[in-house]
Amino acid sequence: MNSLTPDKTPVLVTGGAGFIGSHLVDFLLDKGHKVSILDDLSTGSHGNIAHCVDNPGCGFIEGTILDSDLVDKLISGAKLVFHLAAVVGVKNVVEFPRKGIEVNVGGTENVLRSAASYKCRVVLASSSEVYGHSRDIPFKEDGDRVLGPTNIQRWSYAASKALDEHLGLTYAAEGLPVSAVRYFNAYGPRIDESGYGSVIARFMSQAFKGEKLTLYGDGNQTRSFTYVSDTVEGTYLAGTHPDAVGEVFNIGSGDETSIRDLAHEICRIIGNDPAFDFKSFEDVYGPAFQDIYRRVPSIEKARNLMGFEPVLSLRDGLEKTIEWAREHYVSANNSPG
Ligand SMILES: NC(=O)c1ccc[n+]([C@@H]2O[C@H](COP(=O)([O-])OP(=O)(O)OC[C@H]3O[C@@H](n4cnc5c(N)ncnc54)[C@H](O)[C@@H]3O)[C@@H](O)[C@H]2O)c1
Repeated sequence: MNSLTPDKTPVLVTGGAGFIGSHLVDFLLDKGHKVSILDDLSTGSHGNIAHCVDNPGCGFIEGTILDSDLVDKLISGAKLVFHLAAVVGVKNVVEFPRKGIEVNVGGTENVLRSAASYKCRVVLASSSEVYGHSRDIPFKEDGDRVLGPTNIQRWSYAASKALDEHLGLTYAAEGLPVSAVRYFNAYGPRIDESGYGSVIARFMSQAFKGEKLTLYGDGNQTRSFTYVSDTVEGTYLAGTHPDAVGEVFNIGSGDETSIRDLAHEICRIIGNDPAFDFKSFEDVYGPAFQDIYRRVPSIEKARNLMGFEPVLSLRDGLEKTIEWAREHYVSANNSPG
């Protein structure tokens, strides 16, 4: 019922030196795939893939998805592309909105155009951001999207990912096997401490330093945090299950957690007394910012069509993540709990 892909299928992972991409690479290598990684290391790192570049089945190419010749050459040797490279996260997009649009849309155009030439299966990494302000909880893939105005740059990320999906679906309609996955707050080992605004990374970092945890807004906003191995499983299914072709899937945990509860849980696991600082979104992202209050997926479609089932609870996932972060965060001079 799961994979139809022979294990040796050559696969390209764009953004494979990033957080989710590097876990996907590990998963693919474990299955015996031959994996090429294309990454410009703008937010990814050598460290994320250092353990696998000596694997004869794995090749790393430093370069950009905006280089259409390079993308074409790499896709010519692949049968399956997981396209994860992107300017990621609200903070980056608010700071570099044009770059975000150019990379996220232009890079995806390059990937899809070449994939069509070589009849290569594609999975596009999209985002729960595409739902915007929708109050239709839980979000369903065919639900309406509600985005704010174009003078608020955070929406350009959602718009760029939605445009990627539209473009991918036009290729799918012409017979190219394309699917898209909308990720909901992935977390786990390798989540970037200095990164693009992952709240779990930020809370762990502050807790290890013995600082108060900074909560934006009232802290009652909710998210569906998804352990990265579940994210990777859903991504792989989208690239291999026959019923996934031409479809868009929510890939999330389905559990709704408030940011305040998340902060408490991280403090509990690290062994700190909970202490919080509250900041307004305006103070963090500037006056023209709009947050999304609740973000919860329906995962029925992914479950019914391709057998996706997230397995890790937030508690277990946080324990694993914090165990990893104790060794990797806060460069030695702070005492982890
Ligand atoms: N982490 C999440 O919770 C989440 C949520 C929604 C969507 N996503 C999507 O998942 C994908 C992976 O995100 P992530 O969380 O692993 O972030 P990440 O920043 O760790 O990974 C993105 C990777 O893309 C690379 N990259 C950026 N621009 C590039 C370019 N022009 N050419 C080649 N490589 C480039 C970066 O160096 C990085 O390694 C992205 O498409 C992102 O939009 C992630």
